[in-house]
Amino acid sequence: MKTIFSGIQPSGTLTIGNYLGAMQQFVQLQDDYQCYFCIVDEHAVTVPQDRLKLRNNIRSLAALYLASGIDPKKSTLFIQSEVPAHTQLGWMLQSISYIGELERMTQFKDKATGKETVSSGLLTYPSLMAADILLYKTDIVPVGDDQKQHLELTRNLAQRFNHKFNDIFTLPEIRIPKVGARIMSLQDPTKKMSKSDEHEKGFISMLDEPKKIEKKIKSAVTDSDGIVEFDKENKPGVTNLLTIYSSCTGESVESLELKYKDKGYGEFKQGVANAVIDVLKPIQDKYDALIDSQELDDILDQGTEKATITANKTVAKAKKAMGLGRVIKKK
Ligand code: TYM
Repeated sequence: MKTIFSGIQPSGTLTIGNYLGAMQQFVQLQDDYQCYFCIVDEHAVTVPQDRLKLRNNIRSLAALYLASGIDPKKSTLFIQSEVPAHTQLGWMLQSISYIGELERMTQFKDKATGKETVSSGLLTYPSLMAADILLYKTDIVPVGDDQKQHLELTRNLAQRFNHKFNDIFTLPEIRIPKVGARIMSLQDPTKKMSKSDEHEKGFISMLDEPKKIEKKIKSAVTDSDGIVEFDKENKPGVTNLLTIYSSCTGESVESLELKYKDKGYGEFKQGVANAVIDVLKPIQDKYDALIDSQELDDILDQGTEKATITANKTVAKAKKAMGLGRVIKKK
């Protein structure tokens, strides 16, 4: 059975971008693959975090994974910092990463530009991400469109390591959804929807109440021609709403265009809002039941245990390949 790995940062409440670009695929994939899903808290601390908020966000993300349909009987769900193998292999891969290739990462440039101080962790973030993936002999990494460059680097690092030392890493393939790979901000549809957006109306959080969702979608930026049509270049706002609608309902963009032909944006936006609410409401109900439960801790404990076994085996192989640790003289 092929293996899947993916991770999400607990750096704020997830948006529908995270859900439609990543989590929704995870749920579909767990029937056919051996899956590892990770809460990548060590990635989150590469930028400043409030410690109490971070700890709450970690728990909240675990509950959201489960509420969205991640089944602990099929998938391994765990927290990155609870499996030390991640930073161990991360260090080894950092040691074969070039500063130049790390500086070329657009996500690094976006996050570093204009900042007075930037942590070295933000620069070496992709080496740790490569470790996350390579630890589990991952075949496929389901992610949104913005992770493409990181995945390419992961493959390069795996190849470099295999070539330099020993052929131990599997080269992972990226898997991006056909619709919903890049959900845009509701207020500026030329920018990616992000949980760290300072404009609250730009994103829909997975825990937003139905009324709030409706309000945000109603005030989403569109255009003045009143035609519900998919056209990324000229109608980015409407195109983004069509994408959200289609990925929430599974209905094709063409069929939605037909449905709203000759109808105004008011009616269309109501349709989008209903589609989002229909997807999120059941998740929110399950989330409420899980967030303070012992069950959540039990699932995470089991996940840590399972992930650790596989990850430690890979670390042992990688250490040996690189020459780390002593020669053991057995009597
Ligand atoms: P993160 O936490 O920013 O996002 C988690 C997942 O959500 C996707 N995503 C989106 N998809 C569609 N539209 C959007 N607006 C949108 N915003 C986010 C992301 O592509 C991602 O799949 N570096 C990763 C975390 C990571 C990881 C890994 C992922 C660390 N190690 C190993 C895969 C494998 C990140 O920052 O994702």
